[in-house]
Amino acid sequence: MSIMSFPDRGPWGNAKWRGNCSGHVYRQLFEQILGRLERPVFIDPMMGSGTSIEVAKEMGITAYGLDLHQGFNILRNSIVEATGEQGNLVLSHPPYHGMIRYSGEVWGKEAHSDDLSRCVDDEDFHQKMHLAMLNQREATLPGGYYGCIIGDWRRNGVYTSYQAEIIARLPAQELAGVLIKAQHNATSNFQPYGKMDLPFIMHEYIVLFRRKTGTILAVLGAMACQAQRRLQGTWRNIVRSVLMKLGGKAPLSKIYEAVSASTDRINTNSSWREKIRQTLQLYPDFTSEERGVWGLA
Ligand SMILES: C[S@@+](CC[C@H](N)C(=O)[O-])C[C@H]1O[C@@H](n2cnc3c(N)ncnc32)[C@H](O)[C@@H]1O
Repeated sequence: MSIMSFPDRGPWGNAKWRGNCSGHVYRQLFEQILGRLERPVFIDPMMGSGTSIEVAKEMGITAYGLDLHQGFNILRNSIVEATGEQGNLVLSHPPYHGMIRYSGEVWGKEAHSDDLSRCVDDEDFHQKMHLAMLNQREATLPGGYYGCIIGDWRRNGVYTSYQAEIIARLPAQELAGVLIKAQHNATSNFQPYGKMDLPFIMHEYIVLFRRKTGTILAVLGAMACQAQRRLQGTWRNIVRSVLMKLGGKAPLSKIYEAVSASTDRINTNSSWREKIRQTLQLYPDFTSEERGVWGLA
């Protein structure tokens, strides 16, 4: 099932650990992903109260649990160095940004600067999660799975989709599945129903990637191509939509004017006029029958 809902968390881990996950979720994932393997190895680099590790051990799976609260820092220490072997499944359940703060609140007396629940802003969190996922990837056997359990967060009218940011930063060829997990203890989101346009977020995602063979540099290369294609595609669609607005045909000067009025993309790219010309020339979507005038093909 790609949708999971377990109101009961079971006897594993600690029910009082804020933001814990039901052990049944791990049980189902282990049955599905590790069930056919002879000697499955599972790694949770942010194990919290240890729910996943207890479930794994009960199922006879070799399991390694790490966490900042016992001195392992996913932003500074290599997972595979810490465990001594790669896993068939390397799954984390990170904090989502600052929804629940861990160091200094759930554990320890002081805030830890590398605690993922203490990032300065969303961008800081996205960057750090990316690093955490690359660390997890390195700790995954080729053909094995890595990923995370994470939700989205709406606050002050802004909806941040952490899972979408993670997917966008990792190699598309490795994305293997996105599962939905119902959240039964999402009380921290509580606001009176009548005041909300949109429903409470009552679910999290389990985002899974399958590690292909290939070095980190090959992955980075693929990711750079991915980003490049996306950027080019964005320019193509900006120019297309502007031409649509201009009736399907317009002189270059009008196209420049309309693009600069319709997007703030040009603030970050000083050679935007050149980019528009390049885009018009590159794609078969655009034709020019008279000098300096472009239309939709
Ligand atoms: C949502 S909790 C995990 C809960 C767990 N699944 C359970 O059921 O108990 C997230 C954990 O990530 C840990 N964490 C935060 N930053 C970390 C870092 N830089 N390295 C390793 N662990 C980190 C926190 O200490 C916390 O225990």
